[in-house]
Amino acid sequence: MITPTPPAARGTAPTAGDVLLSLRGVRKSFPGRHRGEPRNLVLRDVDLDVRAGQCVVLIGGSGSGKSTLLRCINLLETIDDGVITLDGQELTDPRVDVDDIRSRIGIVFQSYNLFPHLSVVDNVTLAPVRVHGRSKAEARTAALEMLERVGLADKATARPDDLSGGQQQRVAIARALVNRPRLLLLDEVTSALDPELVGEVLDLLRALADDGMTMILNTHEMGFARQVADVVAHLHGGVIAEIGPPSQVIDAPASEETRRFLSRLHA
Ligand SMILES: Nc1ncnc2c1ncn2[C@@H]1O[C@H](COP(=O)(O)OP(=O)(O)OP(=O)(O)O)[C@@H](O)[C@H]1O
Ligand SMILES: [Mg+2]
Repeated sequence: MITPTPPAARGTAPTAGDVLLSLRGVRKSFPGRHRGEPRNLVLRDVDLDVRAGQCVVLIGGSGSGKSTLLRCINLLETIDDGVITLDGQELTDPRVDVDDIRSRIGIVFQSYNLFPHLSVVDNVTLAPVRVHGRSKAEARTAALEMLERVGLADKATARPDDLSGGQQQRVAIARALVNRPRLLLLDEVTSALDPELVGEVLDLLRALADDGMTMILNTHEMGFARQVADVVAHLHGGVIAEIGPPSQVIDAPASEETRRFLSRLHA
């Protein structure tokens, strides 16, 4: 069972929060595939503000740069140009402590990447102990609390292979939350799941959003985006073609690119 702590009234305090994450002129390219080929510019001067407590949903076609954007925020990719700040601190400053930043920004991918030889709770405590230098006892307490949060307290000593895909993904979310990050990034976290397991993960994300967790997520689930997003941003060719509340971007898009993307999705 997923038991949300009493929701902070959505749409009031959290959405009126201060800017937590800010991107200005973020540019990212990758080398061309063949020698002599120009670099592939994947993010073209992206500006984005995410306020504390907001849930921002990124939509866009395959290759539009959604995953790259999340990876740049988490410093898994180095940007070519621009500035990213979290809580006013410039993440893109080469002097930042990357491990410290990653403890403040959790990320979850489509594939859950749990260690099969470790118990569920040990999977969740690994990074806090090894990377962030927390004591084993403290990390275990935090891990059990997060497993409770994702509805898996009774699976703490199980091995990942004994869990369903949906449960494994919830463990991966607990692992991303264990350092109590300021921001949670979720890259298509339900795409690899069997359809009957998608709901439990979306329910958890909805509960986290209701709790006021600041999140940016990529998804193709438009129904879910409409329900949970404070802001929907449509990425097209590395630029934000349209951004606004779901009632605008999903239901009444002004941009031609967004209209075309949505009609293809519905077709
Ligand atoms: N490590 C990399 N090296 C070279 N090119 C890359 C790399 N990562 C991404 N790209 C390219 O950047 C572009 C954007 O990729 P990205 O994975 O961000 O798209 P996406 O919007 O997440 O797509 P999808 O919906 O398929 O997941 C693509 O053209 C991709 O080939
Ligand atoms: Mg992607």
